[in-house]
Amino acid sequence: MPKLVPYKPLVLRLFHGLNAFLAIASLITGFLVYDSWDGRFGQLSLTVKNRALIDIHGTFAFWLFWVFLAFAVVNIKIGKSYLTNSQDLSKLNVKVGQNVWWYRLQRLLNTTILLALTLSLATGKMQDENWLPRGEVNHIWYYLHLIAWLVTLIALSCHLLISAKVGGKTLFLSMFNSKYRPQDDPKLWRDKIRAWFKNPRW
Ligand code: HEM
Ligand code: HEM
Repeated sequence: MPKLVPYKPLVLRLFHGLNAFLAIASLITGFLVYDSWDGRFGQLSLTVKNRALIDIHGTFAFWLFWVFLAFAVVNIKIGKSYLTNSQDLSKLNVKVGQNVWWYRLQRLLNTTILLALTLSLATGKMQDENWLPRGEVNHIWYYLHLIAWLVTLIALSCHLLISAKVGGKTLFLSMFNSKYRPQDDPKLWRDKIRAWFKNPRW
């Protein structure tokens, strides 16, 4: 199939990169917390029980929460075309395997990973940093947080696989490319934000 490499607005790429970095850091540190303090569903014993690990995870996750909020707004405002839209939902008679089918699946998986992270962040906010050190591993919110971790891991793997299938290396590079068009120049951002506040449109 033809490799599709659309131009992505700079602000989308910046937030995507920052969000991806913090999300992967939260996934890894979250796993290390589970691996050292719990391990009931499988254990690699990579680290020993360590209070600092919980704090490190909490710090990455805390920043991810705010960056994700901004990323979600940017996606809804200017990245709508990369997410599932009303056309995808209304015209379902597309044959499996057609190019358009793959692009729809890609948009669906872009949307799914946003929802998976929302679940991880929402359940994360319900955690108490003292549960694991006190040996309390049966809280319902703790189980939900673990399930959210697994869902996010699966969603991220699918997100990467479909992007590789649809756009390959060029698409990956386009997400981390620092070049931008003149209308995307960060020098214009201040004026654009001011103009928006003068005439807010939702
Ligand atoms: C958990 C972290 C991630 C989330 C929540 C996420 C979310 C998204 C979303 C919503 C889009 C749609 C367009 C946009 O907003 O820029 C997108 C596009 C994309 N992402 Fe991610 N992403 C994550 C991690 C990654 C990672 C680690 C990579 C690669 C190393 C990656 C590669 C891509 C590519 C190549 C596209 C373009 C796909 C398209 O054109 O629709 N993403 N991502
Ligand atoms: C997708 C991966 C994960 C994300 C996005 C995530 C997100 C979060 C968030 C947002 C918080 C609240 C931080 C705050 O505002 O103070 C949190 C706390 C916490 N998470 Fe996760 N988490 C993930 C995976 C895990 C896993 C696998 C564990 C394993 C046990 C875990 C254990 C904890 C603990 C113990 C806290 C409390 C730490 C504190 O409040 O300082 N997380 N997480």
